[in-house]
Amino acid sequence: MTEPFVTPFDGQTTAGEVLKGIDLTGRRYIVTGGASGIGLATSRALIKAGAEVTVATRRPSGDDRALDLSDLDSVRAFTEAWDGPLHGIVANGGVMALPTRETASNGWELQLATNFLGHFALVTGLHANLRAAGESRVVVVSSGIQVKGAFDFEDPQFQRQPYDPWKAYRNSKVAGSLFSVALARRWAADGVLANTADPGYVATNLQRHLDEDTLRAFGMAGENAVLPDYFSTPEQAAATNVLLAAYPLPKEVTGRYFIYCQEAEHVPGGPDAPGGVAPWSLDPAAADRLWELAEKAL
Ligand SMILES: NC(=O)c1ccc[n+]([C@@H]2O[C@H](COP(=O)([O-])OP(=O)(O)OC[C@H]3O[C@@H](n4cnc5c(N)ncnc54)[C@H](OP(=O)(O)O)[C@@H]3O)[C@@H](O)[C@H]2O)c1
Repeated sequence: MTEPFVTPFDGQTTAGEVLKGIDLTGRRYIVTGGASGIGLATSRALIKAGAEVTVATRRPSGDDRALDLSDLDSVRAFTEAWDGPLHGIVANGGVMALPTRETASNGWELQLATNFLGHFALVTGLHANLRAAGESRVVVVSSGIQVKGAFDFEDPQFQRQPYDPWKAYRNSKVAGSLFSVALARRWAADGVLANTADPGYVATNLQRHLDEDTLRAFGMAGENAVLPDYFSTPEQAAATNVLLAAYPLPKEVTGRYFIYCQEAEHVPGGPDAPGGVAPWSLDPAAADRLWELAEKAL
């Protein structure tokens, strides 16, 4: 394994602190899901550092641009309308643990379609624009759930097995990490660095599909609810996004998995693994297999 890349930051660092003293004037970014939660904190920090940020959202207001990640026609319309160089995409939009199996317009299970396939279509559709920037970044937002189990290539759409909301979310987030591994390998010569950001735990709209008991267990519901100490603020979680999107990185820092502004520990993974990144989330062969699956779907 290559040496981990060490930064001066940690889990307490905010996105604004990572970008302190960095001038992003003239640099153009897209942040999906950039109108709420971690995406909003990411957009704000990039804008404050001088970047031009396009917030891609289902419910655009002001200068936002419409994008529904679960609808490949919407993604295509977005990429076709984009003009000129692009310095970074923060692939942050997502949904979690939909209680029943829902499908996107192309028939894919909705979490995999939204969190992974929509971003695959977006990023690959903007390849020429990222290349035109000379140096650019792709940040794929994954989740600690990737450490619990590998991507299920046998039945990713839950056509043969009963639908499991968390397994579907996990598939989509392992897929995200594998996507940055594949991008790093394929687009290095184009000056594109692609890495994965894990936000840790943050109280946002993402948890809206969780039931009352689960929310209570997380300290997110009930009288006198108190979030556990290990929760981050959106500004702290966004720090890893902007680190990977805009902080100076050597060209070797690509295809890697970060949390709390540092590279995650490489661990064996499994249902009881407490943290770190699992081998199946960084596996180049699985990354290629997933790329082919996604290409076929486009
Ligand atoms: N919060 C956590 O603890 C945590 C932990 C690990 C990973 N993450 C990841 O962090 C990312 C940001 O989540 P968050 O916590 O900030 O939650 P959030 O506030 O719910 O933000 C998610 C964003 O994704 C957008 N989105 C959902 N479906 C979309 C679609 N079909 N097309 C376009 N945009 C869509 C949402 O936009 P709408 O307003 O249109 O719904 C929303 O802005 C997600 O990828 C999530 O999986 C979060």
